[in-house]
Amino acid sequence: MQSVLSHSWQTVFINANIATMTQAATSYGTLENAALAIADGKIAWLGHMSVLPTLNDAVEVVDVHGMWLTPGLIDCHTHIVYGGNRANEFEMRLQGASYEEIAESGGGIVSTVKATRAASEDELYASALKRLHALHNEGVTSLEIKSGYGLDLDTELKMLRVAKRLGQALPVSIEKTFLGAHALPIEYQDDSDGYIDLVCNTMIPEVAKQGLADAVDVFCEGIGFNIEQTEAVFKAASEHGIRVKVHAEQLSDLGGSELAARYNALSSDHLEYLSKSGAKAMSGAGMVAVLLPGAFYFLRETKLPPIQTLRENNVRMAIASDANPGSSPINSIQLMLNMACTLFRMTPNEALAGVTCNAARALGIDDKVGELAIGMNADIAMWDIKQPAELCYQYGVNPLAALYKYGQKVS
Ligand code: NIG
Ligand code: FE
Repeated sequence: MQSVLSHSWQTVFINANIATMTQAATSYGTLENAALAIADGKIAWLGHMSVLPTLNDAVEVVDVHGMWLTPGLIDCHTHIVYGGNRANEFEMRLQGASYEEIAESGGGIVSTVKATRAASEDELYASALKRLHALHNEGVTSLEIKSGYGLDLDTELKMLRVAKRLGQALPVSIEKTFLGAHALPIEYQDDSDGYIDLVCNTMIPEVAKQGLADAVDVFCEGIGFNIEQTEAVFKAASEHGIRVKVHAEQLSDLGGSELAARYNALSSDHLEYLSKSGAKAMSGAGMVAVLLPGAFYFLRETKLPPIQTLRENNVRMAIASDANPGSSPINSIQLMLNMACTLFRMTPNEALAGVTCNAARALGIDDKVGELAIGMNADIAMWDIKQPAELCYQYGVNPLAALYKYGQKVS
């Protein structure tokens, strides 16, 4: 892309170290002792200080004094809109019950469904806003939010409207995902095909008509939906021109990722039980593997996602919080960076790519965000650190010095 001439620049960061996170780059795509210019909310120029053009008086110059700039962080898998919480199930698990046992005895996702149906739109908004604040304060400028705790048309629409409204409350771009096929609601206890019918023939058409979903997701799992049901949802979404993604291979290997690859899916998420052929299929389809260390940690999973196989097959890896009341009640992207390295043994470069360029790709927004390059949105996080690995290494002291969205300083 052509760089924009310096006379139209609005803001220029000087004396910066930049982790551009460009897809092709290794080592964070680092540019040291550099400058970055913004015009019209986009990145207009970046390069070494030695080649910075002469600036006119109208340009706001921000001396970064050697701090680091990265793309604004992207959390590409969350369920932050929900009613109630599941602290009681946390206690049950501490007494020995498993996540699956709790789900099978009427707890789990279905118990959050009850609370979410009962909550008003304003109540859902208020509780989700606190979670969004927590993520935004850590540098998040783009975020995905799933429905899936309504499991009836009205509540699913209510959740998606709340997700949309959250994007107007804070300077965070929200991608909305319809996850009607998250669990079986009690009304359909003995009729899972009947529920999938409702999802495909009533919910998806209405959600599409109202423009409330950027993607459609399915929980493909023993305690979720089988392969045939998952495919039916993928077909319905595709007929409405909506991209798909899947929660797959979290607790067992049903082949959800391979199926998703045939439907040009954006991503497959969780993946602890992913097979070699699943990884190959994802690679062939250019899908992103979204890894969720918070759920791995909170459920005390011991089977690691096959990171080395993903690497060998050149599958791009993203990292997300999966923030939700059941398997990952953790609203922190910085903690995910740390966990991706400590629990999954990913490199800090891979972890940071997981919340920038690869997360953008998982959401299909990589033409706009996730990298610092000319023409991309000026969504930029400024960090008071000496080297990028610090973002993964230390947790608990927030190194975020400033945050910019579309070139405007927002914190
Ligand atoms: O991503 N796997 C399915 N869905 C969520 C869990 C939701 C819940 O337990 O409430 C997940 O882990
Ligand atoms: Fe999830």
